[in-house]
Amino acid sequence: MIRFESLNKVWPDGTHAIRDVSLEVPRGQFCVILGPSGAGKSTLLRAVNGLMQPSSGRVVIDGTELSVKTQSALRRRVAMVHQHFNLTNRMSVAANVLAGLLPTVSTMRAMSGWFRPEHRQKACELLAQVGLSPAHLKRRAGDLSGGQQQRVGIARAFMLDPEVVLADEPVASLDPKISSDILSLIRDAARERNATVLCSLHQVELAREFGDRIVGMRDGQVVFDGSPEAFTDECVESLYHGAVWDDAQPEEDDADSSVDLSTTNVSLI
Ligand SMILES: Nc1ncnc2c1ncn2[C@@H]1O[C@H](COP(=O)(O)OP(=O)(O)OP(=O)(O)O)[C@@H](O)[C@H]1O
Ligand SMILES: [Mg+2]
Repeated sequence: MIRFESLNKVWPDGTHAIRDVSLEVPRGQFCVILGPSGAGKSTLLRAVNGLMQPSSGRVVIDGTELSVKTQSALRRRVAMVHQHFNLTNRMSVAANVLAGLLPTVSTMRAMSGWFRPEHRQKACELLAQVGLSPAHLKRRAGDLSGGQQQRVGIARAFMLDPEVVLADEPVASLDPKISSDILSLIRDAARERNATVLCSLHQVELAREFGDRIVGMRDGQVVFDGSPEAFTDECVESLYHGAVWDDAQPEEDDADSSVDLSTTNVSLI
């Protein structure tokens, strides 16, 4: 379970990127975060692996508050899949996957390139799981296609069997077919390990297809929190184009409103 408690982030230039966000994401949930550019999606994700220090509030992972003291231990349990893959292009595919072990191995070991046979075996298994053949192992990561690079990124993310996977626009630069394949891989690998996924996306249809839950953010606030079914086209319109979210709420006497906000699992904040 990831719990955000009254989280705020004000950047030094005064930008209020996260405004009093409180959320609970249960273990094993695939939670999609949607919202226009600048809504605070990446900032929120980065609060979970300590890459962003909140101005106030707390992030608690399975009962442990993320702090300077707990950060390095928690980081081993939280993996990230990046929009631009973040592979070391000049290194082999195998070395990039093994880099997923870096939070647990010494710098000396990593520099020497010596990894335990069971770790090498695991890297091979993960590569097979994401659809790459042994022939890819020794290839230079930078020579792979974008979709293949993201498969390597996913294999790397799962090297330490994370409890939480943060995926920040993992398919932003991929075509629709590959995007669906990549999200399936993340979902399936996470399900197998009962890992929680926090995934920011810009594609509403993919959010509806893959999310167990959709969280809509705007101007640093959570303005929608509900099931994919409850995230209607009207909700999409309000999230991306509404003047303010409140405009989407029906008048109390407007029983015929096409937006059914009485649905129990929708909360408008
Ligand atoms: N390091 C930083 N320093 C100052 N401001 C920042 C920093 N990182 C993000 N911001 C600002 O915080 C706000 C939220 O940014 P964030 O990157 O979280 O948005 P986002 O929802 O991920 O957007 P996108 O969909 O474009 O990725 C924006 O106004 C952004 O300019
Ligand atoms: Mg972002």
